Amino acid sequence: LDCRSADNHLTPEELSSGCSSSQSVGLVPTMGALHAGHLSLIQRARQENETVIVSIFVNPLQFGPNEDYQSYPRTLERDRELCKQVGVDALFVPTPAEMGIDKPSTFLTQVIPPIEMTSVLCGRSRPGHFQGVATIVTKLLNVVQPDRAYFGQKDGQQLAIIRRVVNDLNIPVEMIGCPIVRETSGLAMSSRNQYLTPAQREEAAVLYRSLQQAKQAFDTGEYFSKALIETVKKEVATASAVTLEYVELVHPLTLMPLEKIEESGMLAIAARVGTARLIDNVILQNR
Ligand code: PAJ
Repeated sequence: LDCRSADNHLTPEELSSGCSSSQSVGLVPTMGALHAGHLSLIQRARQENETVIVSIFVNPLQFGPNEDYQSYPRTLERDRELCKQVGVDALFVPTPAEMGIDKPSTFLTQVIPPIEMTSVLCGRSRPGHFQGVATIVTKLLNVVQPDRAYFGQKDGQQLAIIRRVVNDLNIPVEMIGCPIVRETSGLAMSSRNQYLTPAQREEAAVLYRSLQQAKQAFDTGEYFSKALIETVKKEVATASAVTLEYVELVHPLTLMPLEKIEESGMLAIAARVGTARLIDNVILQNR
């Protein structure tokens, strides 16, 4: 099996029969519509592994009934070109049937992360979402069996939950968290930014700006959740096109709500801008 080309579409069987032998394998799980955020994960994987596999799978299990599963951007040919350019060895682009999720999901064994981690932040408005993420990521890790797997801090709750799942289920993979990649405006890159009009895109930069203001407050000694959250709310309120869904301060690993930052906290935000739902976060860390 030739793994040296992003033209390669691997089947689960081919993957298990091993295109890697003794080589180290890095996996970057994605839903496609690749942008510079994804590419930073791929580049990190490229530096650290002999073989780099990118999976592209728009996972029906993690979309709610009123969410954008059907309209989620699908740009496979462009994704393939980008992957080639950055030296990806193989793409894994399974069908739902190949992932074993074409039957009604009531007949599927699923991975249920701790309720404490799924009932906060995005879990409040997206019931079942993180169960769908945990299930598909577990399946991808079992199929590809990479040495390392790469995830972005952009989805901070997802990263914390997958870390916990990998740890609790003894999945033999090294989890690598990667920093958030942003546009020049500060807006965190996201496939869903495509849903924004140019004017909305400009206004959406308020999310990052508000988190930066809270970070400044933190850096000058403000450790209390209430004050940090207030700072964010005040700044977001200046952008009329942006409707805040939540601002929460939680522990970055356990996602437990924090009243005050002892060592570190994740200040996380979700907002609606037009039809898009955007998320962002900043880690506040005492040195
Ligand atoms: P997707 O949204 O395509 O993101 C794939 C990976 O890229 C995730 O780990 C995400 O955190 C990371 N990423 C996205 N935007 C980023 C940015 N601006 N900076 C840094 N990293 C960024 O997340 C998913 O897909 C899915 O839930 C998945 C894990 C593939 C399971 O279906």
